[in-house]
Parts: sequence; structure tokens; C-alpha cells
Amino acid sequence: MTPRIARVRRRQQDAPFVVTLDLEEEETGAEGPMRFAPGQFNMLTVFGVGEVPISMSGDPAKPGPVIHTIRAVGAVSNALAALRSGDPVGLRGPFGVGWPMDEAAGKDVVVLAGGLGLAPLRPALYRLLAERERYGEVTLLYGTRSPDDILFRRELERWSARLDVDVEVTVDHAVSDWHGHVGVVTTLIPHAAFDPAGTIAFVCGPEVMMRFAIAALRAAGVAEEAIYLSMERNMKCAIGLCGHCQFGTTFVCRDGPVFRYDRVRDLLALKEV
Ligand SMILES: Cc1cc2nc3c(=O)[nH]c(=O)nc-3n(C[C@H](O)[C@H](O)[C@H](O)COP(=O)(O)OP(=O)(O)OC[C@H]3O[C@@H](n4cnc5c(N)ncnc54)[C@H](O)[C@@H]3O)c2cc1C
Ligand code: FES
Repeated sequence: MTPRIARVRRRQQDAPFVVTLDLEEEETGAEGPMRFAPGQFNMLTVFGVGEVPISMSGDPAKPGPVIHTIRAVGAVSNALAALRSGDPVGLRGPFGVGWPMDEAAGKDVVVLAGGLGLAPLRPALYRLLAERERYGEVTLLYGTRSPDDILFRRELERWSARLDVDVEVTVDHAVSDWHGHVGVVTTLIPHAAFDPAGTIAFVCGPEVMMRFAIAALRAAGVAEEAIYLSMERNMKCAIGLCGHCQFGTTFVCRDGPVFRYDRVRDLLALKEV
């Protein structure tokens, strides 16, 4: 439960109220820098303010600083977003069960992200593209409120230029210099090229977006058991002890945050547990 000390090595403003921090642990054990699976999270502490769960957003294959993308919404996330190079951060993790990368092998993969939801999905995208031959069609469908809110723009452009991945970005509200799609992210689904019978979908975003995304994927013929999503719930211990994130016999911190949809259908219907 005791956090290790890391320091901010790099801070980048990605969008209004969204920053990406590269955190380097002061001391690593014999096993070297932290390794994590796509979709896992760390507990980050700003000393004197508090501790919150934040997903890794960097490349799981790259040793070195651990990368997190944070939206400032309250006390701790604002304090994290205000950190500068060299500032200390407490770090516990990695925790949780991530995206089912092995289960996706041999299938078409649809990655559906809303807003900040692209951050916990980015490690999965790095893995999909690094091991491209393991998967069928790979499609990223990403929606944000406005063009200013688009995260990781340069990377999206790089991925768009590849011939082996389909990247579609849409915004809810366009401005005059936007020439891309306009409309919510689910409007991209009917135009995407995937075989619904052999598809697995990874979904992350605000819960209302995930509910509509699941309905649209189901309407397109994707089975419930092939839809995975990342759930957010209040957390304290992150190791299945305190019960803060518990519903029934399930703990979001330990058994998730990534779940198969049919296993959390009831939880998704609840605002908070
Ligand atoms: C497994 C997991 C992974 C997460 N990964 C990330 C991540 O990669 N990046 C990230 O920025 N956040 C992530 N979160 C959410 C993050 O933990 C919360 O935003 C944070 O705990 C808020 O704490 P706070 O003290 O800043 O705000 P609080 O004081 O707790 O909340 C302030 C206000 O913001 C609202 N609020 C809280 N969380 C959110 C939210 N997520 N979106 C919108 N409003 C919210 C609250 O309802 C409240 O009104 C993750 C959460 C979980 C459970
Ligand atoms: S956060 Fe304590 S049980 Fe999940």
C-alpha cells in the first residue's frame, strides 16, 4: 500500500484540461522499470492532496518512464495536472485486468474511444500495431466534443497514414476549419469494415457513450461476449480489500477495470456503486 516515489520527467498539455505526464521512478528494483499490460492502471498520489486511479497511456513495450494522461476534474486530478518537471508523485501499481489482447488474436478488432477514453486504449493500440500480423482488420473509431479535444493528434495522423489500420475521427461540434466527420462516435460504426461474426470490440469513454456504443455494436451484429469495456468506479485500496469499488462479488479494481460486457451489464445500468 506504500507508494513508491516517482518524478515528473516530461509534461505535455494535450488538450484543454488534459495533460500527459511521463513519470520516472526514483528507484527501481532488480526487475527494472515498471512493466504493465494494456488497460491496467496505477494509483497516483499528489502528496498532501490525495490519491487517484489513472490508467497507463504509454507503450507497454517501451521500458522507461510510465506515461499517464490526466483530465483535471477535481482536487487530485487538478493537482496532478499542475505538476511540473521534477515534482514528486507517489505511485502504486500496476493494478487490474487489462484489454484481452490474446483473445483478440485472429479476429477483427474495433477500438471505440470517446474523449479521454483514448488514453487507456492507447497501450492496446500500440500492441495491436506492433503485432499487426496477429490480428484481422484493425479499426480505431474515435470521437471527441470538438477538434480542440482530440488527443495524440500526431500519432493519429501517423496511424492514419498506415495501410493496415483504419482510423476514423469524428467531432460532436465542428468549427470552420474542420474537414472530418461530424457526429457522435457511434455514427462511424455502420461505415467501418469488419466482419461482425469474427470481431472483438474494445470500448472506453464516458458511460453514456459506452451504452450507446454497445447498442450500436450489437445492432451491427457484434456478440455481447465479444464486447469489452473499461469501467471507472471510486477506488481507495486498488487491491480488492476496502470494498469501495465492489458490486456483488466483483471488485472493479481487482477483476477489472476491463470487463466483458455481459459480465457488467447490470453495473453499467447503475450510476455509482
Ligand atoms: C481504473 C480507472 C482508471 C482511470 N484512468 C484515468 C485516466 O487515465 N485519466 C484520467 O484523467 N482519469 C482516469 N480515471 C478517473 C480518475 O480517477 C478521476 O477523474 C479522479 O479520481 C477524480 O479525482 P479528483 O480528486 O480529481 O476529483 P473528485 O474531487 O473526486 O471529483 C470532482 C468532480 O469531478 C467528477 N468526476 C470525477 N471523476 C470524473 C471523471 N472521470 N470524468 C468527469 N468527471 C469526473 C466528480 O463527480 C466530481 O463532481 C480513472 C478511474 C479509474 C477507476
Ligand atoms: S478499491 Fe478497494 S476494493 Fe477496489
